[in-house]
Amino acid sequence: KEITIYSPATSANLGPGYDIFGLALKEPYDLVTVEIIESSCKCCEKVKISVSGEKAEEIPLDPTQNTAGVVALKMMEDFNIQECIHIKIQKGIKPGSGLGSSSASCSGVAVAVNKLFELNLDDLKLIKYASLGEAVAAGAPHADNVAPGIMGNFTLTTSYEPLEVLNIPLDMDVVVALPNIQVSTKEARKILPQEIPLSKMVNNVGKATGMIHSIYNKDFENLGKYMMGDQVVEPCRATLIQGYDEAKVKVKDFAHGITISGSGPAIIAIPKNKECSSEIAKIFKEIWDCPIYETSVGKGAYEI
Ligand code: HSE
Repeated sequence: KEITIYSPATSANLGPGYDIFGLALKEPYDLVTVEIIESSCKCCEKVKISVSGEKAEEIPLDPTQNTAGVVALKMMEDFNIQECIHIKIQKGIKPGSGLGSSSASCSGVAVAVNKLFELNLDDLKLIKYASLGEAVAAGAPHADNVAPGIMGNFTLTTSYEPLEVLNIPLDMDVVVALPNIQVSTKEARKILPQEIPLSKMVNNVGKATGMIHSIYNKDFENLGKYMMGDQVVEPCRATLIQGYDEAKVKVKDFAHGITISGSGPAIIAIPKNKECSSEIAKIFKEIWDCPIYETSVGKGAYEI
């Protein structure tokens, strides 16, 4: 018995929404298959993992070190699942790219285990399980990638203790670039200030709330403007991504807004229209000569 889940890339933060805002993308995506298997030897683990696709060789196969493995082990422990499983991950999302690669595998496996063993967990519980994998990957169980990864659309993780997530439908095109630059999420979190002046808090709350108003009004021009108004996280991380400042200037006429996706190096832009989308893709290609996705906001993980 096996089940395969489509698990989308996600873009977290979107400027002023650090650890809160997240967006599910139609492309790229991982395919996560979970199969119930006979245990072949007495000493084998309950969870076996194999990975293919984008940078598969860099992903640990030990289930206690693999983000999806950690999620599966915890769910199996909590629900007293005695069977052994084989998790097969086909990576379409490049690891360490800023597009929620590890969280896509975590979300995919949470949804698969839930279906396969008929656990009937709601989205919030699945997000909680999936975010355990993020703790392994990023050093903190941030939920702003797994929340859209499970629910789709645009999500707001409005509270961590207890976990609370809101979901807003959003139909919007985006252009994403994956520059070939290494940025570790753990490191990109460490460089952020632990305290900020009140004036910056006022700015960021203003911009973040403006974004929500813009989404409800389908006002993508203002959405992009507010998205670029972060004064805390994006300015710190911008220095890690060579070519980003140039991209910001060059896409100005074609994009409502541009920002760093998650902890980077991926960059996400909101095109003014379809033609602008191709222009932005061209500009990104010239600057980084890297994979580009002209895609749109999409659904959360689902069985295929
Ligand atoms: N909110 C997280 C961060 C997302 O910016 O560190 C990581 O993809």
